[in-house]
Amino acid sequence: MSIPKNRRPQLTAQKSHYFDPAPVVESKPRTVHLHVGELALELKADRGVFGSRGVDLGTLVLLREAPPPPSEGEILDLGSGYGPIAIALARQAPGARVWAVDVNERAIELTRTNAAAAAVANVTASSPDEVPEDVLFEAIYSNPPIRVGKAALHELLVRWLGRLRPGGRAYLVVQRNLGADSLATWLAGQGYEVQRLKSKKGYRILQVGNPAS
Ligand SMILES: C[S@@+](CC[C@H](N)C(=O)[O-])C[C@H]1O[C@@H](n2cnc3c(N)ncnc32)[C@H](O)[C@@H]1O
Repeated sequence: MSIPKNRRPQLTAQKSHYFDPAPVVESKPRTVHLHVGELALELKADRGVFGSRGVDLGTLVLLREAPPPPSEGEILDLGSGYGPIAIALARQAPGARVWAVDVNERAIELTRTNAAAAAVANVTASSPDEVPEDVLFEAIYSNPPIRVGKAALHELLVRWLGRLRPGGRAYLVVQRNLGADSLATWLAGQGYEVQRLKSKKGYRILQVGNPAS
């Protein structure tokens, strides 16, 4: 006996986001290429993870235009995705430890795989809560998850910017038409020293200094 159309259970499509802890979209790995200066890497990307079709333009702008990482100490890639920023920084600063933090389990796993494939031993990929509380950062680099919404983004930034060492700097790449300038104004209002360091291809790089420094 067939069920009348209006009595059939509703199948609601679950909306999937790149910042879901466990992506619902089926995995379909693919290889993407990262070229920054002399660095050329093949990275594994996947559906349900940011930038799965290719390394994001904002990420490239950050890697090409932000100051180089400190040569030692702790560095954070906040929202690492499959790891292009963390792995590029780790290659540039083999004497530093790079923490690659994400909420998306598939992204964390890909960062581990990509770091191993790139023979980079100084990347630690983990969920945010796995980073020991006493780790403070010399520098933070991030293509932050603007799409989580303003309140969640602000909470995220306050949580991690508060862990910059005195004198430490964060470099955030944000699309101009996704609120780079209003984010800069908000950060300055929170007491951070903010500079619009570069503006390229529709993106701004914001340099954020720890107010204690
Ligand atoms: C714009 S993507 C950048 C990904 C990667 N860094 C890149 O350049 O391709 C932002 C990342 O932040 C992650 N994210 C979202 N909320 C987060 C949170 N609360 N803590 C850490 N990472 C988060 C997302 O899962 C996503 O991978």
